Amino acid sequence: MGGPCFGYPMRVLIACEYSGTVRRAFAGLGHDAWSCDLLPADDRSPNHIQGDVLPIAGRGDWDLMIAHPPCTYLAVSGLHWNKRTPGRPERTEAALDFVRYLLAAPIPKIALENPVSCISSRIRRPDQIVQPWHFGDDASKRTCLWLKSLPLLRETNRLQGDARTRRANQTPSGQNKLGPSPDRWKLRSISYPGIAAAMAEQWGI
Ligand SMILES: C[S@@+](CC[C@H](N)C(=O)[O-])C[C@H]1O[C@@H](n2cnc3c(N)ncnc32)[C@H](O)[C@@H]1O
Repeated sequence: MGGPCFGYPMRVLIACEYSGTVRRAFAGLGHDAWSCDLLPADDRSPNHIQGDVLPIAGRGDWDLMIAHPPCTYLAVSGLHWNKRTPGRPERTEAALDFVRYLLAAPIPKIALENPVSCISSRIRRPDQIVQPWHFGDDASKRTCLWLKSLPLLRETNRLQGDARTRRANQTPSGQNKLGPSPDRWKLRSISYPGIAAAMAEQWGI
């Protein structure tokens, strides 16, 4: 993919990514970057593995993994459903186990990303909480990062305003603007390019 790589080219696994956003950010800096998801890659890249990421992450030949595990059964905003939906608490436990496996993968450097979720109370508190608007994207999405052997991500372009400022992805009441649709979860889960670029620039060294 060319482009400047300031250290040595790393073997980078982007776990649970179909959009290719983080993969392209690392590949653009010269790294050997691969995404893996149960879904096909939106950009049909040959550097995408469609399938279960756990055996891929366990291979032992990666330098760095950025993981975006599903938050449906973890996000604090949805946990109230666990009290009234049979079977849902078990799904939360399975989602937590998935996170534990990813965090324990034999990879020297790991970053795992999720919204505010019960990972904090059940596994450990995040190392950092960032916002897309700290990295040049006009969007609000509290994004927690659990890090292994990686420095905190430094803000690259903090937009004007503060946590109360309405961002382009929000309604006046602060909700996400995307209306109900079968694709809503998918559109909401796509990584923001500013954070992806910062990950590649600061962690790909
Ligand atoms: C919250 S979305 C992350 C999307 C990502 N931020 C992006 O830009 O593509 C979680 C993704 O995890 C994937 N997923 C769930 N279980 C998986 C597994 N066992 N192996 C690989 N991917 C998995 C889902 O298909 C979904 O696309």
